[in-house]
Amino acid sequence: MHVFDIAPVRYTDGTMLILDQTRLPGEEVYIEIETKEAVFEAIQKLRVRGAPAIGVAAAYGLYVAVRDFPETGDLVEFAKMLQEAGTYLAAARPTAVNLSWAITRMQTRFTEQQPKSVGEAKALLFAEAEAIRAEDEAACYAMGAHGLSLLKPGMGILTHCNAGTIATARYGTCLSPIYLGQERGYGFRVFADETRPLLQGARLTSWELSKAGVDVTLICDNMASIVMKNGWIDAVVTGCDRMAANGDGANKIGTSGVAILAKAYGIPFYMYVPTSTIDLETATGDDIIIEERDGEEIYRMWYEKPMAPAGIKTYNPAFDVTKAEYITAVITEKGIVRPPYGENLKKLLK
Ligand code: MRU
Repeated sequence: MHVFDIAPVRYTDGTMLILDQTRLPGEEVYIEIETKEAVFEAIQKLRVRGAPAIGVAAAYGLYVAVRDFPETGDLVEFAKMLQEAGTYLAAARPTAVNLSWAITRMQTRFTEQQPKSVGEAKALLFAEAEAIRAEDEAACYAMGAHGLSLLKPGMGILTHCNAGTIATARYGTCLSPIYLGQERGYGFRVFADETRPLLQGARLTSWELSKAGVDVTLICDNMASIVMKNGWIDAVVTGCDRMAANGDGANKIGTSGVAILAKAYGIPFYMYVPTSTIDLETATGDDIIIEERDGEEIYRMWYEKPMAPAGIKTYNPAFDVTKAEYITAVITEKGIVRPPYGENLKKLLK
């Protein structure tokens, strides 16, 4: 099976399925989602993760939350249920804006369309979830084409975390140009940071790239500097969870360090940001809420026994903010944006 056929979220024959990414790379298991609580849990536990995929899961999840409402029921009650389910799901994770973006988009479709019956309301919500999924797939494909224009055959490319096909509807954001290049015989050499503490680079990026036949080398996070110094890296590509109006971009913890290193070595740093991830309501990176997760992920999760003394204090931020000054270009589905981002992101979204 081609890696593109592995959808992180799908809704077929009346069933919502999520690929349980916590079990990768060992097992490819889909779990059936029947309640909003199950969607919440899947997002919070990172069974589905990656900003665009979280948005798609939230959209279908909102539909799942209201799909059993009686067809003959009261529309006002239905609207209340939709509102409450949206507020509930939006709290699953704080940093990726695609979560609240998708929920708001679903709710806006309902209020603007003014359906005459519960049946009509359900149909339009399902159609909106399908549209969010399809538009993300198209956006990722377009980002691949724009991004490839910045890369040359034979380049060495470093990536951090996983912004690949399983983090999106399909193709990925920053891995999309790598797949397109692969199809066209570009022969990229990709270096994947393992991405502590949850190992999205080791478990997910190296899994999906090697499945597609891409030349990928796994490194520990603290090896980024040496591979750059060795002259093996010509470009860094990453995804983004929320880009503020001034071009500061939150992404997986460790991204900002990689960007600073890239600048020091004179290597371009490209952040892939679909327009669904740009948040003009947030002025700068300082205003982005950074998720903090359980310290257990650092000292125990991947070990047979704890690798730190009992009761150790931990600090486990899931994301950090890369300042706009370290980002060489922002790749969106509408084209490539260059500094000054404050001005140019606004122009792009007009
Ligand atoms: O905690 P995660 O695995 O959801 O973090 C994912 C990232 O940081 C990705 O780089 C980002 O969401 C972009 S995915 C196209």
